[in-house]
Amino acid sequence: MVDEVMVFKHQVLTTHAFPEEWLRPLADTCEVNVLAGQPQEQTRRLLEQAEGILTLLSDKVDAPFLARAPRLRVVSNVAVGLDNVDLAECTRRGIPVGSLRTVLTEATADLALALLLAVARRLPEAAQDARSGRWPGWSATGWLGKDLQGATLGIVGFGQIGQAVARRAHGFGMRLLYTDPGRHPEIEAELQAKRFLLDDLLSESDFVSLHVPLTEETRGLMDASRFTRMKTGAILINTARGAIVNTEALLSALEQGHLGGAGLDVTDPEPLPADHPLFGLTNCLILPHIGSAAAGARRRMMELACENVLAGLENRPLGHCANPEVYRNPRAKTHHRVA
Ligand code: DGY
Repeated sequence: MVDEVMVFKHQVLTTHAFPEEWLRPLADTCEVNVLAGQPQEQTRRLLEQAEGILTLLSDKVDAPFLARAPRLRVVSNVAVGLDNVDLAECTRRGIPVGSLRTVLTEATADLALALLLAVARRLPEAAQDARSGRWPGWSATGWLGKDLQGATLGIVGFGQIGQAVARRAHGFGMRLLYTDPGRHPEIEAELQAKRFLLDDLLSESDFVSLHVPLTEETRGLMDASRFTRMKTGAILINTARGAIVNTEALLSALEQGHLGGAGLDVTDPEPLPADHPLFGLTNCLILPHIGSAAAGARRRMMELACENVLAGLENRPLGHCANPEVYRNPRAKTHHRVA
């Protein structure tokens, strides 16, 4: 007779449902439950038991949330941006937070260029006209857009994604300016990019693309006074976070014809209500936050997110930890799995 062995699995939550195969790395050692759609009492119980959690950029992982999950030993945010997570509170509680670092750099840079090209060459408007019978034949004057060759692109934030955008734009023959707290001499030499102060970059650029994280310093960075500094007819691209831009100020800069257009993968609020006036402007292209929505990028995001959960549950340092200082907090090591 074979003795029955009780196998205890780690209790893991996902705030939203993911395809089962995306969570396969967790299958052997974790019992995974989905929070979304659970009744209140079940939500309370699942949070109380959770040892690990996978969160999305739309989930607020703050002190009240963490207080409901006292056994939590790892938060794995399925996003590169971490503005939804109170890192200091996680550190105080001894909880390492997994980040994804560079896995969606190329996909997001691709999308920034797609938006830039689409708005520069008025693709949504032209496609809509073609579909709606407003196509009189080849037109010498119709749908005239902007040239990229020789135009100046100002890149606000020169981290991995900003640099990946610069590489692509260099291929289109654009002149490159960037802002960043530090200088990047190698890529400056490679792409003939120049570091500028933000206000100077805004007044020199034909296109401005945002690539800074959302922090208290960058919230509302693009406000009315910054739009005034931009060249008449310039185009703004935002694939970073919606709240970096003051939505009302952007709307009025577009309505007054000061800006030539905007390409937004992110908005504030998000989702932007379908009746928002920005949707009524033909020179404003809005996408539903799809920067990382390329199959390979999403697969790598999930692999890394699962690896972060497993490392946290097994008390190994996370390969990609957003708050490494947590390992100086003895509480990070005193959690034990509760069977
Ligand atoms: C991120 O991971 O921060 C992205 O915005 C998701 O597409």
